[in-house]
Amino acid sequence: MPIVVVVGGQWGDEGKGRIVDLLARKARVVARYSAGNNAGHTIVNERGEFKLHVVPAGIFYPEKTCVIGNGVAVDPEVLLGEIEGLESKGIDTSKLVLSDRAQVIMPWHKELDRLDELARGDKAIGTTGKGVGPCFVDKVARRGIRVADLLRTEDLRPRIEAALSFHNRVITRVYGGEPIDMDDCCARYAELGEKLAPFAGDVQDIVLSAHRRGDYVLLEGAQGSLLDLDHGTYPYVTSSVPSSSSSGAGLGVGIGPTEISRVVGVFKSYSTRVGNGPFPTELFDDTATMLRDHGKEYGRGEYGTTTGRPRRIGWLDAVAARYSVRFNGLSALALTRLDVLDALPSIKICTGYELDGQIVETMPARESVLDRVHPIYEELPGWQQPTTEVRNFDDLPPQAQAFIRRVEELLECPVDLISVGPAREQAVIVNPIF
Ligand code: GDP
Ligand code: IMO
Ligand code: MG
Repeated sequence: MPIVVVVGGQWGDEGKGRIVDLLARKARVVARYSAGNNAGHTIVNERGEFKLHVVPAGIFYPEKTCVIGNGVAVDPEVLLGEIEGLESKGIDTSKLVLSDRAQVIMPWHKELDRLDELARGDKAIGTTGKGVGPCFVDKVARRGIRVADLLRTEDLRPRIEAALSFHNRVITRVYGGEPIDMDDCCARYAELGEKLAPFAGDVQDIVLSAHRRGDYVLLEGAQGSLLDLDHGTYPYVTSSVPSSSSSGAGLGVGIGPTEISRVVGVFKSYSTRVGNGPFPTELFDDTATMLRDHGKEYGRGEYGTTTGRPRRIGWLDAVAARYSVRFNGLSALALTRLDVLDALPSIKICTGYELDGQIVETMPARESVLDRVHPIYEELPGWQQPTTEVRNFDDLPPQAQAFIRRVEELLECPVDLISVGPAREQAVIVNPIF
């Protein structure tokens, strides 16, 4: 049975949590495969409205197994707080499994994230400040602490000593910061390890066994592909691999690329970005304010789920999006927030960039070039009527249908699912994904 990956196609916050919550209906296992609590996934369903940072969005179905893969960087306090918050609202988390191979976000990672951003000054990345980047740096430097280490006090202390003595030198000598206390840290993380122990397990076995039994498995991505360490707008990217391109999704739960049957890319009907970095179609006018504040009165405007920062807004960038479709190997698109465009008299899509008198239709690698390109827009008529109650493609206004068809052409990928509101049922399923 299929293993389906849900991946963000733009700069994050495309509505992945909302799409996973919908698709999880048919899955047996839902797994987060990358990143950490820099992610913030909003889910609106019959249980209420939830913002998840680490726990997979399948958690609202009590019979599903939800797993946090080895590719995720886990802040134990954040995860335990999230579990507690869900339990307090009557959501059963007893089937949650955390990979014992997952990296742990330690106090020095958060401090280094903060200090490094300060040191970069006006070239700051605009990180979420959750310590995720420095945690992945330690993973690659082979200095990371894994969940398995937290579970055995005798293993934990020497590992913390090795990592923290190094990082305390960096914190004090490079950044002029305050050292972190070794004993406090060892005691606190041993205690957190005890609390996490009931959740720890072998994620690969769960995913593969479900797959071989014939059950559906959903792999939930975080962030967006244009924040990908390899393919994103480097250096204004995250420190992991959100995309599904070979190393991302399979790597993050311990399965090979041949096991994955479909990759669904979630795209907003326009673009947003939080943090710094190139954004060719960014808008600074009334349209940006209108799109950002749509649903603001219900806490649903374009403000970061994790940090509350206002999201930068722009038109749909088909050059960047097509690049993302290609390097993710997408089989289908899920187009979200179509309803946010409902009131607009016309809608623009960027079909190319103008650079020094030339037309560019592929994504430039250099940040300095991306900062200089001018978007070339195609303008489509708006539909100026509500779509939030529509459930069939044919019932969408003709202009909305034309917009979607044009998106498919420009992105070279079919739109299988359209989201017309934040709630689970506010969707138009064009082709069933499972
Ligand atoms: P994620 O990080 O990709 O899961 O996305 P976020 O949760 O950070 O941001 C997406 C926002 O859009 C959330 O507030 C969702 O509730 C909301 N949302 C998702 N799909 C739709 C939609 O089709 N229409 C509207 N109006 N809101 C949506
Ligand atoms: P979800 O899963 C939007 C951005 C940050 C910053 C850059 C690096 O909710 O879509 P980091 O803290 O990862 O080192 O920050 O990446 N970023 C996100 N932007 N949505 C996210 O996750 C993001 N996760 C990281 O804003 O620009
Ligand atoms: Mg988000």
